[in-house]
Amino acid sequence: MRIDKANSENIRNAADVIKKGGLVAFPTETVYGLGADGLNPIAVAKIFEAKKRPSFNPLILHIAFKEWIEKFCYVNDDKVYRLINKFWPGPLTLVLPKRSSVPDIVTSGNPTAAIRMPDHPVALKLIEESGTPIAAPSANRFGHLSPTEASHVSKYLGDKVDIILDGGKSAVGVESTILQFHENEFYLLRHGGLSKEEIENEIGKIKSGTVDPDRPNAPGQLPFHYSPQTPLKFFDSKFLDETKKIGALFFKKNTLSFPFSNVKILSQSGDLREAAANLFSYLHELEKQNLDLILVEPVEEKGLGRAIMDRLKKAANQHS
Ligand code: TXA
Ligand code: MG
Repeated sequence: MRIDKANSENIRNAADVIKKGGLVAFPTETVYGLGADGLNPIAVAKIFEAKKRPSFNPLILHIAFKEWIEKFCYVNDDKVYRLINKFWPGPLTLVLPKRSSVPDIVTSGNPTAAIRMPDHPVALKLIEESGTPIAAPSANRFGHLSPTEASHVSKYLGDKVDIILDGGKSAVGVESTILQFHENEFYLLRHGGLSKEEIENEIGKIKSGTVDPDRPNAPGQLPFHYSPQTPLKFFDSKFLDETKKIGALFFKKNTLSFPFSNVKILSQSGDLREAAANLFSYLHELEKQNLDLILVEPVEEKGLGRAIMDRLKKAANQHS
């Protein structure tokens, strides 16, 4: 790990690290972010590994130009453009239906993506030079305070990042405000650097809290978590019923002679990063097959294996 002063040369080097799939901590106006190429699933898996999150959390995509929003999200309301024109760059994250260009690991399998344009010259330059949206959570370990200086990042994540770009203190100091647009309404998911009043001055009344509390389990409506609609269980011989259409998700290889309708292997080399990077897209693919059941092989609960197991256990519980 290196702490580099954020001058042009060092920003260019950091952009090379991003392009090669590495991790760069960088300043934004809110807090420091732990960034990776948002279009490279393996690089994004490294973020979860470094943060030691017990589970996957959807990440914010950071962009350098307002127009990039169209590449990654569907924008189908004028009010969204009004917000962007008024508050970007700035501490406002928008949650919108995602395009297929955004890998599932970025959104934890959700059909929506969170996106913002940070108001910090170093962040903007880094993204521009990388030529890709940068997926980044706050650069703290899970459960710790968000970092507002480079030294905070090195204290908690020092050995996990390739480069920390030092751009001084974050001016805003709290995370961005998160606003979801869903079925013609705006929902404030997280209070942050931009106040509710400022937003309402621009677009009128918005709702607080999560989307549609009356129908929290309607498909695609949960703001944070995704589980397949098909029942999912951990492998057990009692589930191996040949009259059913069963799909299988193995870690390294298919170890059973059962006639599965569909088999997915998370990582033939047994690499947890690759497994994490594939997890959500494979679950989506299995879900599309109209199976009666998805059987999954547990992975060892170490490193990213914990996050993978956390997600699979939640999915299994949903159908028990
Ligand atoms: O100011 C910030 O937003 C900072 C800087 C680095 O940009 N980032 C940040 O990221 O606070 P993070 O990962 O610590 O918090 C992002 C929040 C999480 O609570 C996550 O669940 C939520 O955004 N989020 C991301 N994608 C979402 C989605 N598709 N739907 C709902 N919530 C989402
Ligand atoms: Mg955070």
